Amino acid sequence: MTFRFDPPKLVDNDYKLSQSVKSRNLFKPDGLITRQDRETRNCHKSYIIWLTGLSGSGKSTIARELERVLFEKNYQVMILDGDIVRFGLNSDLGFSLEDRQENIRRIGEAAKLLMEAGNITICAFISPYNNDRDKIRKIVPDGDFIETFIDCPLEECERRDPKGLYKKARSGLIKNFTGIDDPFELPEKPEIKVNTQELSVEKSVDKILTYLSEQNYFQQPNESRELSLK
Ligand code: ADX
Repeated sequence: MTFRFDPPKLVDNDYKLSQSVKSRNLFKPDGLITRQDRETRNCHKSYIIWLTGLSGSGKSTIARELERVLFEKNYQVMILDGDIVRFGLNSDLGFSLEDRQENIRRIGEAAKLLMEAGNITICAFISPYNNDRDKIRKIVPDGDFIETFIDCPLEECERRDPKGLYKKARSGLIKNFTGIDDPFELPEKPEIKVNTQELSVEKSVDKILTYLSEQNYFQQPNESRELSLK
């Protein structure tokens, strides 16, 4: 392999610097392997399935079962889950408005990286604000962010209370708990809506798979395209 010394592109003008990027003099080298190369090798497209809903609505359970089904069909698939990410990447964040925004912003960027690496990326986060979810939709190409509302009434989530958190929130031991004394904004136009009061875990996963199938997300990428490294 010969080394090329094409200067990488200066990206100061590309970024919305005035808005959020602190650094200057950034250069963006083009990769030799594209996302499309990875999708072709994996024999499937990559995208983000974003599960949003109240605590106890069933997001993590559905995410795990969906991951299992896709993995068994030989798909490259990965989960990002609120309770796990908050132990690592986001261990410095709590549940204030600003921290929740930053939580979702970082997850969105991480999900984008995983998607660009060829994964079907399943995200399970309360993500209570429409604005934060919409920002992620905007940083990925059209169709790559599949907002999935895990719809379950608060009363039912509270009845399930799998972690005992609603009880603690009601008794004042936890402040700013989503659904109790913190808001959850209903998704305005989710691609998929799954009512887990009516549907079993299997039926919920089926509903997501049916959407993906009907919208051609399982269509094989163009196999005639040669891989860059051939
Ligand atoms: S989000 O609102 O910022 O999207 P995230 O999905 O990462 O939340 O984390 C939610 C999980 O944190 C819940 O499933 C629950 O186990 C735990 N948790 C702890 N405190 C709170 C709180 N005040 N509100 C909601 N969830 C909380």
